[in-house]
Amino acid sequence: MDGQHDGSHGDELPGLISAQAREFSRRLKAVDRSRLAAAAQATVGGLHALIAELRPSGEEFRLAIDFLTQVGHYADARRQEWVLLADVLGVSSLIEDQNNPRPAGATPNTVAGPFFRSDAPEMPLGANISRDGKGEPLDVSGRIVALDGLGVGGALLEIWHANAEGLYENQEPDWQPEFNLRGRFRADAQGRFHFQTVKPKGYTLPSDGPVGQLVSALGLGLERPAHIHFRVSADGFETLTTHVFDRSDAAIDRDAIFGVKPELLADFRALPPQGGKRRHALDLSLVLCPRRHGEIKISGRR
Ligand code: BEZ
Ligand code: FE
Repeated sequence: MDGQHDGSHGDELPGLISAQAREFSRRLKAVDRSRLAAAAQATVGGLHALIAELRPSGEEFRLAIDFLTQVGHYADARRQEWVLLADVLGVSSLIEDQNNPRPAGATPNTVAGPFFRSDAPEMPLGANISRDGKGEPLDVSGRIVALDGLGVGGALLEIWHANAEGLYENQEPDWQPEFNLRGRFRADAQGRFHFQTVKPKGYTLPSDGPVGQLVSALGLGLERPAHIHFRVSADGFETLTTHVFDRSDAAIDRDAIFGVKPELLADFRALPPQGGKRRHALDLSLVLCPRRHGEIKISGRR
């Protein structure tokens, strides 16, 4: 382990660019060798390097403080602007990648996002998770497999996605039936699963708060391409939390939260229309990797 992660934080940390950062580090070392102290030292080093590079004026510093204050004002039990900020800066996605590395061939992990509910009902294979029938029917089928290609019998799948307007059930509880477009399924003995739903639409992240304003001021977008979320758990395997994206979505190259990976692109195939209604099908393989053993969890003081 290096000094940054074992709490020993040596003098050589990169980024201790200013006299203040070095003095901060010296004081910390005299009193505290915890993980928190290591994090504080690295944060101060990074911030001071940033300030040395950008050389903000007093007015710019005040604007930055105002922005962070606004982010705080938009964070409560219903809305978490801090998480949104981490999402659009790519921080949430990086943390997910670092904490859940997947070997080649396994389906990559992604963030779960704010709309997951762990209490969706279990349904029989083949059931329809669209509880209002609104949208273009989509048949989803696939298999949960291990790295060697063998089916993972009895794996538990949790599924959730936005409707044909790009909205989740828990964003509009007065309009969509409870648990609309959510369900839990148990794969069969060969790891196979199938269910019915409707084709989801992509959506934009909230633009009415400080994070939305920042993203717009930078000339970037808040779009998320259409996707379906999956969480798959099975004994002996790492739990997989992932998205499957519609490859044909116009926003596929500009996901606001950096969740798109080549392995997660899928074809929502057009089926022959029925009664004038467009229908689609999606076939998937989700590949689990064995549970990691002997992990050293670093937490709190040592
Ligand atoms: C989502 O995919 O549901 C999501 C993820 C991160 C931020 C916002 C939404
Ligand atoms: Fe989503």
